[in-house]
Amino acid sequence: MATQRGVLELEALAAPQPASRQGRGPQFASRMSAMPVSAIREILKVTEHPEIISFAGGLPAPELFPIAAIAQAHADVFADHGPAALQYSTTEGWRPLREWIARRMQDRGIAASADRVLITSGSQQGIDLAGKVFIERGDAVVVENPCYLAALQAFSGYEASLVSIDSDDEGMRVDQLENALSRSNPKLIYIVSEFANPKGTTLSYERRKKLIELSARYGIPILEDNPYSELRYTGVEMPPLAALDKDGLVIHISTFSKTLSPGMRLGWLTASDQIFQMIVVAKQAADLHTSTIEQHAAARLLESFDYDAHVGRLCEIYGERRQAMLSAMESHFPAETKWTQPDGGMFLWVELPQHLSAEELFKEALPERVAFVPGTSFFAGERRLNFMRLNFSNQKPEMIEEGIRRIASVLKRRLR
Ligand SMILES: Cc1ncc(COP(=O)(O)O)c(C=O)c1O
Repeated sequence: MATQRGVLELEALAAPQPASRQGRGPQFASRMSAMPVSAIREILKVTEHPEIISFAGGLPAPELFPIAAIAQAHADVFADHGPAALQYSTTEGWRPLREWIARRMQDRGIAASADRVLITSGSQQGIDLAGKVFIERGDAVVVENPCYLAALQAFSGYEASLVSIDSDDEGMRVDQLENALSRSNPKLIYIVSEFANPKGTTLSYERRKKLIELSARYGIPILEDNPYSELRYTGVEMPPLAALDKDGLVIHISTFSKTLSPGMRLGWLTASDQIFQMIVVAKQAADLHTSTIEQHAAARLLESFDYDAHVGRLCEIYGERRQAMLSAMESHFPAETKWTQPDGGMFLWVELPQHLSAEELFKEALPERVAFVPGTSFFAGERRLNFMRLNFSNQKPEMIEEGIRRIASVLKRRLR
């Protein structure tokens, strides 16, 4: 069956490729063997069937994309600035958009100026560019365990040696960090400070302060990845690491993917001067600049559209979906399971009894027409089998209730 094959092939794809045979076939760089395949992309291929209730992707709800407003913004740009919007542009990006982003970041306490805002092709490119300018083969990079998979891919592509620090309900165990910093002398600390992917957890204020203090003491830059910060449903807002940074060591990246549309591929990065300039050069070599037309359209949209009201609506709807998932799990999941209680974002993280494998469970769940992402591939170090990631933003509450009930029945069968 095609669906089963997709899952079983994951490990084969992730395995190092054989060395090239003489004169036959493409000879890939050795760095590619260190780059893990995205299990999520593979899983999405088998969960696309409309009958499957999928909690697998990290997808925003498409029915909430402001399609009419985005279409209007494009039409206005074509009418008023067609030639400029279709032309090559500067690497740093379209000035009005950079100004809007700088003001937004200033509102969160980040000392960003438009001159130091780089528009990137999604925040993923910010991760990749940071990797490109800092990591040489074998350099240590600190990551949270578990960690956003595509960041692990990006750093592995630069042949980093990943140093993983455990996490709990308050995010990275910063108390374990000092030891790792003095031992491994990393080039970079990567962290999703709010509503992390995959766990949904947020770094506590005390840990933020400690992390900034350690980064300054050891002179190690922090790559703060903050794609979900606008999507808070409960709890109180906390200053981003970039707002606490006095030493110019935090590189802050974010995105419009989670609030406007991931298809526009618009993200941004801000950093202190020296780091910023270096990353701009790296972006020139990567793609010259981010799509001019999309930057113009976003800037035009943000002039007229009530972005705050739109984000408020997203928070209301995603907040309901989060609550629907938590309540359904409370009602249906067996007592032996535990899960995180995210204050925002799109995911929560389930811990199964130690002897259960989420990959096995995934295979049993598919015939029940429900899907999730087994947690294994989010671990940089020792792969742990008994975790799964659930996305709550992409399904309506009634489907969430039904999907959770289906997962629960598979779980209960396994635990009998
Ligand atoms: C933690 C994290 N960082 C970065 C990204 C990439 O987002 P984009 O490149 O669409 O801005 C994602 C997307 O899921 C994410 O979860």
